[in-house]
Amino acid sequence: MSKTINVGIVGMGKMGIMHAGLLNALENVQVRAVADTQDLILNFIGQQFPAIQTYKDYADMLTNEQLDLVFITTPTSFHTKIGLDCIKAGTPFFVEKPLGISAKDCVPLIEAVSSKPVINMIGYSKRYVDTFRKAKEIIENGSLGELTYFNATMYVSQLFSKGKGWRYKKEASGGGVLNTLATHLVDLLLWYFGHVTSVEGNTKSYYSKDVEDFVHAYIQFENGLEGYLDTSWSVRNYRLPEIKIEVHGEKGMLTVTEEYVKYYSDDTARWTTLFKQDLYTGVEFDLGGPEYTLEDEHIIDCVRNNKHTDVSIFEGYKVQRVIDAIYRSAEERRAIPGDSI
Ligand SMILES: NC(=O)c1ccc[n+]([C@@H]2O[C@H](COP(=O)([O-])OP(=O)(O)OC[C@H]3O[C@@H](n4cnc5c(N)ncnc54)[C@H](O)[C@@H]3O)[C@@H](O)[C@H]2O)c1
Repeated sequence: MSKTINVGIVGMGKMGIMHAGLLNALENVQVRAVADTQDLILNFIGQQFPAIQTYKDYADMLTNEQLDLVFITTPTSFHTKIGLDCIKAGTPFFVEKPLGISAKDCVPLIEAVSSKPVINMIGYSKRYVDTFRKAKEIIENGSLGELTYFNATMYVSQLFSKGKGWRYKKEASGGGVLNTLATHLVDLLLWYFGHVTSVEGNTKSYYSKDVEDFVHAYIQFENGLEGYLDTSWSVRNYRLPEIKIEVHGEKGMLTVTEEYVKYYSDDTARWTTLFKQDLYTGVEFDLGGPEYTLEDEHIIDCVRNNKHTDVSIFEGYKVQRVIDAIYRSAEERRAIPGDSI
């Protein structure tokens, strides 16, 4: 029988609770302790789950508990400091996306993990969605030929008056719809297309005072591909966040969403559509979408077998630098070249 992996969670809000539920459902994984700054949450967990130790200060949890893994699911501004403390304690960690509130905020964490490596992962969960994985396979197998153009969007109907909570405060979230939500979209683009050589961005705040509600960006990649990213949380008709990426090549095209991947290639002269149910292979336990189970299973497997994860915080740092460059471009009203991203 494999060793039990003892997990601690910092931040028991929406994502902390979801990961706690998932982790406890995995074989030989136990959430041993949680930390949150709110007494209400700690009292509830203490009463309902007496086997779980509760802490108001996560530093005490790191000192007192023998943890194999820590999940960081706090508002974004705390991610890098908690990650640094995990590295100091020599404890592997999983941090929710985005890595930090800016690239500068992430530097000490990246330096620390480079000099004292611990297993780490960032929650870019879209990489575990079957349709997005299939799209990567098609892009990489060459059936679209040389890539010529992309158009990538992420929309949700979320904000139509002044927002309440940490997401709408720049010092807590690092930014609006781009750093908080469409960070997933930037990650997918970097995962598909590689290194960015130039970005030009525009942001607009309409409902929010402190962060942006709309972002339009033009992105060029080292492989010659260029195209647009467009995102907003203040558009109607998107009950749930919706990503759509369209990629054109000299021999075909592909459209991918969470629901389907549809592609055409001159080689076969045929359109193919694969829906998510065609690609679904099943997970033991689903809470919030199979992608979250798959990412949690992955980090547990890496901790158990002392392996690097597929989505390390270095990937998160790359995303953060591109997001910073889009914000900088919007502010300075100029294109930002690759060597300053
Ligand atoms: N991967 C995804 O699809 C996805 C989806 C939603 C949110 N997220 C990310 O997950 C993180 C958490 O988001 P959420 O929606 O769960 O937020 P939330 O506001 O629901 O929960 C945050 C929790 O952290 C606690 N907290 C705040 N400061 C703390 C501290 N210093 N120490 C301990 N606890 C602290 C709060 O009391 C709260 O309970 C964010 O970084 C967000 O970007 C990822």
